[in-house]
Amino acid sequence: MTTTQTLLVFGATGQTGQHFTRLALEAGHRVRAVARTPAKLTARHDALEVVQGSIDADLDLDALLDGVDGVVLMIGDRVAQQERLVNTEFVRRLVPAMRRSGTRRLLYQAGGLSAAPGKRLMPVLRLVRSTIARSFDGQHRDNEAVMRYLDTEARDLAWVAHRAGIGSDGPSKGVLRRSATWISIGTFVDCAAYNLRLLFDDGAVHSCDGSAYRRGR
Ligand SMILES: NC(=O)c1ccc[n+]([C@@H]2O[C@H](COP(=O)([O-])OP(=O)(O)OC[C@H]3O[C@@H](n4cnc5c(N)ncnc54)[C@H](OP(=O)(O)O)[C@@H]3O)[C@@H](O)[C@H]2O)c1
Repeated sequence: MTTTQTLLVFGATGQTGQHFTRLALEAGHRVRAVARTPAKLTARHDALEVVQGSIDADLDLDALLDGVDGVVLMIGDRVAQQERLVNTEFVRRLVPAMRRSGTRRLLYQAGGLSAAPGKRLMPVLRLVRSTIARSFDGQHRDNEAVMRYLDTEARDLAWVAHRAGIGSDGPSKGVLRRSATWISIGTFVDCAAYNLRLLFDDGAVHSCDGSAYRRGR
């Protein structure tokens, strides 16, 4: 995918989103970012448009989607998601708006501890989720509900979910590739670069896989 695309990005002020926005702009794309606090965005670019707003509020999705080729969601609010499925509620409003605008591409970043639709996590991951990562349980329940909704009710769109495993904001550790069997503990910059490739990857449409660094050279 080398042509210039217009991307609507939610979560651009987050740990993955800051890298994603910079990389997308460097690759020559146009980015329309929706942010609760636009001042948190570090990228500055003529091709960057920032719209103040929250997925929890009344966004004019038809206006936001005007001229957009792909939508990227790297959003999460751990506290709010303990109480309700914030992302799912938003995606349920976003998908019909995408249909109205004719925007077909959607990438949703979930987590490696969020189970893909119809699948169970490996026992070791279930243990991690219920112990050291239990404060993120609401986030994973929300991610799982989003993936279930996309899988059952939005197969007319070319969506892909990335069940990311992220350990740190360190430097790149290599190139992540889609993996149904293994999830590497990546860095935010590598996940962002992977998301940018994944969004327009025809072979990944309707997948909810993880990502892994290629072993060996
Ligand atoms: N962090 C990890 O280690 C990790 C690992 C694997 C998977 N994931 C998944 O990836 C997703 C993104 O993670 P991350 O660590 O990159 O994000 P993050 O740093 O936690 O940032 C979350 C982003 O979502 C935005 N956001 C939250 N609620 C919003 C709302 N109501 N309206 C608009 N924007 C809102 C935040 O905006 P503000 O700046 O306004 O708060 C921020 O840009 C997570 O939700 C999680 O499911 C994360």
